[in-house]
Amino acid sequence: MATRKILVTGGAGYIGSHTVVELFNAGYVPIIIDDFSNSEKSAIKGIEKILGQSVKLYIGDCNDSSFLHKVFKEEGEISGVIHFAAFKAVGESVNEPLKYYQNNIGSLLSVLEAMKTFNITDIVFSSSCTVYGEPEELPVTEDSPIQKATSPYGNTKQICEEILYDEAQSMSTTIKAIALRYFNPVGAHPSANIGELPLGTPNNLVPYVTQTAAGLRKELTVFGNDYNTVDGTCIRDYIHVVDLAKAHVKAIDYLSQKENQNLYDTFNIGTGKGNSVMEVINTFEQISGTKLHYTVGSRRIGDVEKVYGDVRKAKEVLAWKSIFTLNDALTDAWRWQQVHGKSASL
Ligand code: WQD
Repeated sequence: MATRKILVTGGAGYIGSHTVVELFNAGYVPIIIDDFSNSEKSAIKGIEKILGQSVKLYIGDCNDSSFLHKVFKEEGEISGVIHFAAFKAVGESVNEPLKYYQNNIGSLLSVLEAMKTFNITDIVFSSSCTVYGEPEELPVTEDSPIQKATSPYGNTKQICEEILYDEAQSMSTTIKAIALRYFNPVGAHPSANIGELPLGTPNNLVPYVTQTAAGLRKELTVFGNDYNTVDGTCIRDYIHVVDLAKAHVKAIDYLSQKENQNLYDTFNIGTGKGNSVMEVINTFEQISGTKLHYTVGSRRIGDVEKVYGDVRKAKEVLAWKSIFTLNDALTDAWRWQQVHGKSASL
């Protein structure tokens, strides 16, 4: 019987921490690797509060092969790896491309090398809908064209997908790999013990909304309302982070059921529907009972007008689909903000 130990790199991060909880709930033994370069130690406490027990943690950098070998050696029988550890700020990646290429690609290469050394075959990789760029047709399917990345961050996701694809073609490696292409992760665990902890000023919409509503930000700027959409604001596929976390468990389940032949596959993980920025604002005002202060500013460079996913493949192959609504996600995000106040705006 496999030990069902799953190594979760970046397991103290926003999506990683929620995935650790869902792995545990599914009977796996999650083991966290994190260097806390872009996460908080408080996330570990939050996870343990939800689980009602401690969770194993190795503090270190996934770019450090000797550290990884130490972990793999110490843990012995590992069923698989979920690789989240990466930098993810689009704007920052434009200013510091080398930091992003080194960290995001280097860490995957080190993880794959350690897996090969210790004969571990199963990996789920954290990818992004950003690989689709500005899609020609909607909803995007996994076969939609991969457009030239609009940021070094997006390019690292595309390059990592290509690395996994090439590894799965190699005769000298046994690897079963899945790339999950996330749409827009939002919300927090209903217990409010874990959630999004953007460091500094949030880049993303929902944490900016909740921090504005909490009085930590003066007002939200809506980046443009002159797009060709229902109300002029951009459209995205906002998926509850707990739904997203459960998709990783389904992906690990799927890989564990496949006999040891090489495979690489990609899956869109979203709700399959789009919502505009104004719809997010209006929904937030409804669920919170507060009026949100916002102004309309100019467009943000690099924003795509509309993107949302065709998520039938994940349903058919992984037996996964989202169940939480935008209301649920914004309710959980607002509760997290209210419980954690300033600390949720580090
Ligand atoms: C959503 C919409 C903004 C902030 C990014 C990454 C993607 C993934 C998710 C990592 C857009 C508008 C935002 C604000 C606004 N990250 N907005 N005012 O850009 O769709 O995706 O985060 O994997 O890879 O690209 O998410 O939340 O930044 O923006 O009007 O203060 O909200 O213009 O239309 P995005 P976002």
